[in-house]
Amino acid sequence: MAEAKPEKLLVDGRRLDGRRPDELRPLRIKAGILKRADGSAYIELGKNKILAAVYGPKEMHPRHLQQADVAVLRCRYNMAPFSVEERKRPGPDRRSMEISKVIREALEPVLFLHLYPRAVIDVFIEILQADAGTRTAGITAASVALADAGVPMRDLVAGISVGKVDGTVVLDLMKEEDQWGEADMPVAVMPRRKCITLLQMDGNFTPQEFRQALDLAFKGVEQIYEAQKEALKEKYLPSLEEGR
Ligand code: CDP
Repeated sequence: MAEAKPEKLLVDGRRLDGRRPDELRPLRIKAGILKRADGSAYIELGKNKILAAVYGPKEMHPRHLQQADVAVLRCRYNMAPFSVEERKRPGPDRRSMEISKVIREALEPVLFLHLYPRAVIDVFIEILQADAGTRTAGITAASVALADAGVPMRDLVAGISVGKVDGTVVLDLMKEEDQWGEADMPVAVMPRRKCITLLQMDGNFTPQEFRQALDLAFKGVEQIYEAQKEALKEKYLPSLEEGR
């Protein structure tokens, strides 16, 4: 059943869940949780729960899909039927195909695809529970999963959405803000190089609000990047220290 629009999304500078405009939702990332994938990661961002799994690089089959000089990066973003309020019909749809495409484009710039001609790297992003910002949280998890798979990378990729609610620019929209707010702008960044690899926008910003939103996204990305590195250290530092 569709929920009614709350009268206000911001009261005395606080959002519906008590956050200030520049605060992220609680964030948790864990690297390497699936035994049978080459690399994997799990992320919780607020009520979002997302798994990312990586297979490869491995020889591409069928062979006619091989690229002679580079590896192909294949991404599949998929929402579980139980991940949203109204049961999601299983299988691909226009939205998931678009999101899979922009996720691939957001991740490609950090990979050295020319190192693996004729190969494929498969990235699966499974949305177990959705509460807005799933494409960006999916990118965050996928880049940790790629690192966990030992795929050489120039940088990680960290994603977050920014937007506008009740005339105020806010970080990390939750479902109600995504649904009822005035603007939603998912952004993905290579944190060390400060390069943007994804920027989409739904709604309107003034040029000044756009600048402010982008600054806020970069601040959010810094926190996400720290959590990504922590997740990888948590998995790999103990074994590195043992080997000393
Ligand atoms: O998740 P993201 O913000 O990247 O993408 P969106 O298309 O802006 O979707 C926003 C939110 O709407 C999702 O995260 C879900 O919580 C919700 N949604 C839904 O309830 N049912 C769908 N079929 C698709 C999205």
